Amino acid sequence: MLPSRYCQWSRRSSRRDVIAVATGGIQEKRLSSSEEKVQAAVAPYTKAFLRVYDLWVVRLSNRYAWRCDAEKMLALYNTHLGERHLEVGPGTGWYLDHATFPTSRPAITLLDLSASTLEFTAARLPSAVVAPVVGSVLDPVPEAAGAAFDSIGINYVMHCVPGSFDEKGVAFQNLARVLRDDGVLFGSTILASGEGRRTLFGRALMGAYSRIGAFNCRLDDREGLERALKAAFAQVQITMEGDVALFAAHAPHR
Ligand SMILES: C[S@@+](CC[C@H](N)C(=O)[O-])C[C@H]1O[C@@H](n2cnc3c(N)ncnc32)[C@H](O)[C@@H]1O
Repeated sequence: MLPSRYCQWSRRSSRRDVIAVATGGIQEKRLSSSEEKVQAAVAPYTKAFLRVYDLWVVRLSNRYAWRCDAEKMLALYNTHLGERHLEVGPGTGWYLDHATFPTSRPAITLLDLSASTLEFTAARLPSAVVAPVVGSVLDPVPEAAGAAFDSIGINYVMHCVPGSFDEKGVAFQNLARVLRDDGVLFGSTILASGEGRRTLFGRALMGAYSRIGAFNCRLDDREGLERALKAAFAQVQITMEGDVALFAAHAPHR
């Protein structure tokens, strides 16, 4: 049985229930400014936004703003997904829904600070064994999520998380602890310094999303990402596609 602090999913659970279970009751809590920034980064993921997310982000923004088609990220999923998979920041679950798993009944754990994305993704993957857990990637992975994952996906999450890579890179260390020795962490993130010239659409989105705190990647570059991944893993591969760094990391440091 999962500790009551974390989300035990039921299809009938409402978002309010999920938050209540996740926090041990709905309470007023004063947040520090860095906690506020972390919360601001997940605030846009309302049910209304999630309904248009696949068209707006997965299809249009990926191609026309960031110059990296969703198929590039999907290829990472198809290459690296394992039977026991942890998905961090699933959004709408588009990639999990379209990817090919190495088994017909994968065990998927979802980790997100947003109850809406957990609810949306869990409802989308009815045939998979899905366990949603509320938590921030900046904190150690909650015990309720389990450990010894074959694969961990963290797609388009790190450009949302506040701080430089030297600060938010702790996320990779938190995740490395729950990965099997022979497991893989993979994903992608939008960098401030991509390849070539950013599109006008990309510049407009970067400005607007940064102003509302949804994006926090103005300091992010490939070197910082590599340093952060190497602090947690012995083997790191990064390739650039437009403004997006696609990465895979093996051999977590113990
Ligand atoms: C841009 S969406 C990416 C969704 C999906 N992975 C994709 O590639 O389309 C960012 C996701 O990361 C989650 N997220 C942002 N900050 C987080 C944090 N500190 N801890 C856990 N999840 C976070 C958001 O709630 C959202 O689900």
